[in-house]
Amino acid sequence: MAAMTEERATQYREKLTATPQALSGIREKIRSHLGIWGLMHIADEVEFGANELLTNVSQHTGSDECELALVLKDTSLRVSVSDTSTALPKPRAQSLVEVRGRGLTTIAAMAVAWGAEVNSETNGKDVWFELSVMEGELAA
Ligand SMILES: Nc1ncnc2c1ncn2[C@@H]1O[C@H](COP(=O)(O)OP(=O)(O)O)[C@@H](O)[C@H]1O
Ligand SMILES: [Mg+2]
Repeated sequence: MAAMTEERATQYREKLTATPQALSGIREKIRSHLGIWGLMHIADEVEFGANELLTNVSQHTGSDECELALVLKDTSLRVSVSDTSTALPKPRAQSLVEVRGRGLTTIAAMAVAWGAEVNSETNGKDVWFELSVMEGELAA
């Protein structure tokens, strides 16, 4: 008899319009996927970072169209937002007096890695960050 392999979905991808109204629904979907993966303990970080990246699409690209992806890897979760602009983000140095410009520096501080790359396939870019997921934390 052929061996059966059971494959668990390890990605969640959704094309969306990053309006403030859409973002609250997205937060619920993020939580539901993290629940399935046994990762509720990093839900606040994932939600905060995804919200910052999606808000940046709306504020800095001239379009709300984008795709959010959560990709579960062996020891990390990657949160990625692809937008329609090739302009790369410019994180600013933390300042005590400046209220704006903290999203990416906060993401950089909480994530094990982050980056932004032009995507030649979509003619836009991907901005992403990764949070560490210890072995044994994941739902079986
Ligand atoms: N998706 C994006 N596309 C183009 N530029 C971006 C994008 N995200 C961020 N930026 C640029 O990087 C800067 C820093 O972003 P951020 O740390 O989120 O601060 P803020 O959004 O408050 O300005 C923004 O001011 C903007 O110039
Ligand atoms: Mg921002």
